[in-house]
Amino acid sequence: MKWPRPAQPMTGPVIPIASESSGSNFDFRLHPPSASLPSHSHSHAIADTPLAVNCFTMSLSSASSTLLRTCARQQLPTSRTASPFASANERGSTLKIPNFSKYQSNKNPRSNQVFSYFMAGTMGLASAVGAKATVQDFLVNMSASADVLAQAKVEIALGAIPEGKNVIIKWRGKPVFIRHRTQGEIDEAREVKWESLRDPQADEDRAQRPEWLVMLGVCTHLGCVPIGEAGDYGGWFCPCHGSHYDISGRIRKGPAPLNLEVPSYQFPEDETLVIG
Ligand code: FES
Repeated sequence: MKWPRPAQPMTGPVIPIASESSGSNFDFRLHPPSASLPSHSHSHAIADTPLAVNCFTMSLSSASSTLLRTCARQQLPTSRTASPFASANERGSTLKIPNFSKYQSNKNPRSNQVFSYFMAGTMGLASAVGAKATVQDFLVNMSASADVLAQAKVEIALGAIPEGKNVIIKWRGKPVFIRHRTQGEIDEAREVKWESLRDPQADEDRAQRPEWLVMLGVCTHLGCVPIGEAGDYGGWFCPCHGSHYDISGRIRKGPAPLNLEVPSYQFPEDETLVIG
């Protein structure tokens, strides 16, 4: 594209520059904006700028690039504005490194290490003590209370139970039968050929002291409470489904599969029974 020739001859300083492509000099004339230049096509934009180039053989792109280089070399004003994306070198670095020198220790590095280890060890020990106290409190709160522990064992004064009588006490929510057996009941219980029973068990294995029979009062069939001094064998009878237990609490007749259970008990004194 050729630039139109101006109607009036241009005046202004001549700035010789060298072309990068050919190395030859071109004749540039700068002049103030002229109203006489034609106001059409690209020449209108060129004419409104402070500089106009009187060159008819140079293309528009090459002329613009060459003109910018010329302005830069001659320190001429251009329309270029400061870019916010300019590099740090152009606008100056904003990185500021604070001065920590006053926080640095003047002590021996070894003493600083010892202090660090001491603080870490102290904090670890304190954390361990706190964790132990927390776990211990949790376990104490979750453990059985004093009244529950008191029910774990029951102490019975045997002197209050006459011979040939039953006593029923409550232990851990279950009834417990205590029978003060007569000598005749003891002999009857021990004459039975227990090997042929449904749940074979000798009377000697069910009673620590022959005169005292201690059993859970729960039928081994479905958990009813049998009735004492009843049934076909002179022991206990469960009316729920008709189970008969003998004077040693062994199942002799009915649907119950097992003998009445004997709990853990002991005689700390001659007239004292402790169950549990
Ligand atoms: Fe005692 Fe069924 S519960 S016989």
